Amino acid sequence: MTAAIQAMGLAKRFGETTAVACVDLEVEAGTVLGLLGPNGAGKTTVVRMLATLLGPDAGQAFVHGHDVTAQADRVREIIGLTGQFAAVDDGLTGIENLLFLGRLLGIPRSQARETARSLLDRFSLTDAADRPAKTYSGGMRRRLDLAACLVGRPKVIFLDEPTTGLDPHARDELWEIIRGEVGRGVTVLLTTQYLEEADQLADDIVVLNQGSVVAQGTPQTLKQEVGRPTLQVRPLHGSDLARTAEVVTQTTGEHTLQGRLVKTRVHDTGALSSLARALEDAGIEVAELSIREPSLDEVFKQLTVTGATV
Ligand SMILES: Nc1ncnc2c1ncn2[C@@H]1O[C@H](COP(=O)(O)OP(=O)(O)OP(=O)(O)O)[C@@H](O)[C@H]1O
Ligand SMILES: [Mg+2]
Repeated sequence: MTAAIQAMGLAKRFGETTAVACVDLEVEAGTVLGLLGPNGAGKTTVVRMLATLLGPDAGQAFVHGHDVTAQADRVREIIGLTGQFAAVDDGLTGIENLLFLGRLLGIPRSQARETARSLLDRFSLTDAADRPAKTYSGGMRRRLDLAACLVGRPKVIFLDEPTTGLDPHARDELWEIIRGEVGRGVTVLLTTQYLEEADQLADDIVVLNQGSVVAQGTPQTLKQEVGRPTLQVRPLHGSDLARTAEVVTQTTGEHTLQGRLVKTRVHDTGALSSLARALEDAGIEVAELSIREPSLDEVFKQLTVTGATV
């Protein structure tokens, strides 16, 4: 595996606050890592350290093999960053923002203009290119942020809550753009509060709580390891509801009622066939019998509320 990002024992304190306690992570080149965690978990602090904006108190991190502390300049050449504290200048137009960044990065004028035009085009901002950024809607603004972070053709991009506050349509558009970048081989580290976003975009997930990693894995393994599937059954005849609940409890140890639906949490999907047999033996006709994988939302709540570690 080629690690695009590697962090070992990263730590950062602000006075009495331990923002990041000891974080290890590794992101394979061309993949997306989702960094999840509740407010104040340390996500932005981790991103700022990896993006060379903040020196770690302890630990080390490398971006494509370059040390974020000792070789910060080399790291800055290959990364792009957009975030909670974005770099777009409100007074400048869309194209001026991109040209300005191009100049900062030392890109020759004609090439910078070409890059700016093609980014505005890809991000559907051509019509708004000559309007000041302060007149942009939230969705346009986020697209401009992301376009700005791509001016220098980064190999690695850090997206700190890229879609917060966007409507579902604007969010989908941004997801498509991010997927497009990953398709070109770019590595993405994104922080998000939206579990669905991590589920949709991330190859791997790291969950932070109070500055420490409390879980990591693929969205799928996290759901399997932490959450438990829910089994639900609806008897065909309402008069069988009480008996159905009884059979469910006998088979799985518990039940909850939601209207005419009897639900229970199980350890594995094999419970489905045991319950089907038990219901048949009891002579209960079933209108619906299904099993649902836990959502990443449930996993997240469980991990960050109880402080469990996987
Ligand atoms: N510059 C700073 N000075 C003092 N404390 C800070 C500073 N930056 C962050 N902190 C503290 O460090 C902790 C982690 O903050 P951080 O911004 O990294 O969290 P986060 O996971 O990004 O949260 P959010 O989801 O709200 O963006 C918090 O307790 C925060 O108050
Ligand atoms: Mg943050």
